[in-house]
Parts: sequence; structure tokens; C-alpha cells
Amino acid sequence: MILIVGGAGYIGAHINKQLNLNGYETIVFDNLSYGHEDFIKWGTFERGDLGDVEDIRKIFEKYPITAVMHFAAFTFVGESVEDPQRYYKNNVCNTLNLLQVMLEFDVKKLVFSSTCATYGDPVEIPITEQHPQNPISPYGRGKLMVENVLSDYSRAYNLHYVSLRYFNAAGADPDADIGELHNPETHLIPLILDAASGCRDNIKIFGTDYNTPDGTCIRDYVHVTDLAHAHLKALQYLEDGGKSDYFNLGNGNGFSVNEVIEKSRKITGNDIKAIEEDRRPGDPPILVGSSDKIRKILGWEPKYDDLSLIIETAWKWHQKREK
Ligand code: UFG
Repeated sequence: MILIVGGAGYIGAHINKQLNLNGYETIVFDNLSYGHEDFIKWGTFERGDLGDVEDIRKIFEKYPITAVMHFAAFTFVGESVEDPQRYYKNNVCNTLNLLQVMLEFDVKKLVFSSTCATYGDPVEIPITEQHPQNPISPYGRGKLMVENVLSDYSRAYNLHYVSLRYFNAAGADPDADIGELHNPETHLIPLILDAASGCRDNIKIFGTDYNTPDGTCIRDYVHVTDLAHAHLKALQYLEDGGKSDYFNLGNGNGFSVNEVIEKSRKITGNDIKAIEEDRRPGDPPILVGSSDKIRKILGWEPKYDDLSLIIETAWKWHQKREK
């Protein structure tokens, strides 16, 4: 059985679906602080908290767990700057609790949800795995700390892990069973779609004076179902005895904020009012990743690598949710 920690969240829920479609039995472990109970449509749900080692032990005693996927993290970069303690406790200390119990029960396979935020401000585009890791926020630093812990544990305790460094996860399950939903929402595409459906008056463009072709920030949007496929591949790789490794997960294509808004206008057929605002602190102008390594080593191929498909699936889910 596969333990999905944080499986009620946006990304974890998509992976839970993917694993179940591929014949895996899953346990979703989530404290529902940000996760959604109605996203747990597959597998078995166990409510618990990574802050409590006993909560974790109970799950490992109850189920024959063979591997773990870990998504339980706070992800608001700005908030991590305001309240770093909250982030280091949740994203770093609680991960140590999980690893402690995994080792106690001799479970030595882990897929870890990492981020391109571990690279900090890029010195080279596209960003490869060799790019220096100089994170600029407590969120990014915490994720990098865990990557380093995993590397040490791998050497000392024979833990086998894969860290996946996501670029901008986006889109929704093509069947619209689940989708992107955060509270508060800070991500570009769901906010644009809120503006398209009238739940918000407008979308604010954070900065129009960047050194990019249209002055707005460029990001590499990767479909959440493609992310889910990558996790499946990573798990199979570990099950086949693959050695510990880390991979970028992006499409290698960059789209500006203006391009995303324009494409969303076409897809939704709605006029989306955009307002130009100042830059949001901490946003690098361009984040585009090279995913050559994961393509080569894990044979990952994105299926929804077109921005239209990303926005179309997100819109389908958005409309279903509002009904
Ligand atoms: N943006 C706007 N208006 C908004 C929201 C976002 O213009 O209302 C812009 C941002 O400034 C940025 C782009 O849209 O240029 C994408 O912003 P998101 O907040 O959707 O995503 P981020 O690139 O900030 O964040 C993502 C992940 C984080 C990760 C980070 C790494 O969601 O978890 O990449 O930089 F840490």
C-alpha cells in the first residue's frame, strides 16, 4: 500500500487518483488544515497530523505500507517570509517525524514534493538540475533543507527517494473530479478563472515592467495530471530498485501573465478585466525549467503540454465546482 501524506490537497489528490487508476492501494493521511475531504475519492482516508509522531505510527502499524509520497506542506511563499517558524516547523520538522517513523517501520521508498523555489533567482534559463540552489524564501529554503536531509538519510540509512522539483503546477483533472482550490487562493490561473466567472471583479497583474517581451512575468506551467504521471513513474522507478535522485518537472515552455490572461479570455469567452499593479515581492521575472533529465531517466512525457489544455481543464473544473 502507498501512503499519500497530504493526499487531500490539490496535487496529492491528483496523484491519489492516478495511483488508484494504476492498480495501487492508497492510504490518504491528511489533517485537513488545507486539504479537502471531498477530494479523497479513492483509497482509504486516515485523518492525522505529521506533528504527532504517534498519529503517524498508528498508520504504519495498521497498514502494510511499502512506499510514501509526501505532499503535506504549506506553500504560500509570501507567508513563509512573514512567519518562517510556521513553515520550518510544518515543512521541515514534520517531515523529520515522517522519516523517523518510516525508518522505524523499515519503509525506505519516498517520493518527495519539492519545488523550483529551491533554485532562487535563476542565473540561467532553462533551469536544469545543475543550477545552483540559492532559495530566496523560507519556503524554498525549507524544501531545500529536506532535500539535503533526504540525501544524508539515503547515505546513512539506505533510504531511496526521488525529489520532484515542480515548476508551476496548474490545470485540473480532465474528468473534472478534482481541481485546484486553495484558501486563500494566490495562484494565477484559478484567480483569472474567478474573474472570468464573475466571482472576482478583476485579475491584478503583478508587475508590467519586467525585462520580458511584454513586461510581465514568465512561468512554466505544468499540468497536474502530467505531474501525477511523473509521480507514478518515480514510484515504479524506486520499486525497480532505482537509486535516489532528483528531477525537474516542467514543460520547458514559458508563458507570460499577459499571455495566460489572453488565452483564458479566448477559452472562457468572457471578458476578464485586468488591472496593472506593482510587482509582488520575491517574484523572479522568468522561471522555465528543463525536464530533459526526467524524460531521459524516467521516460516521462507530458500529455497536456499546451497552455490551452491546462486552462481548458481548469475551466471545466471551475464551472463544475460553481454549479
Ligand atoms: N500573478 C499575478 N496576479 C495574481 C497572481 C499571480 O500577476 O493575482 C503572477 C505572479 O506575479 C507570477 C505568476 O502570476 O508572476 C504566477 O504566480 P503564482 O502565484 O500562480 O505562482 P508562483 O510562480 O508564484 O508560485 C509557484 C508555486 C510555488 C512555488 C513558486 C516558485 O505555486 O509553490 O512557483 O517560485 F514556490
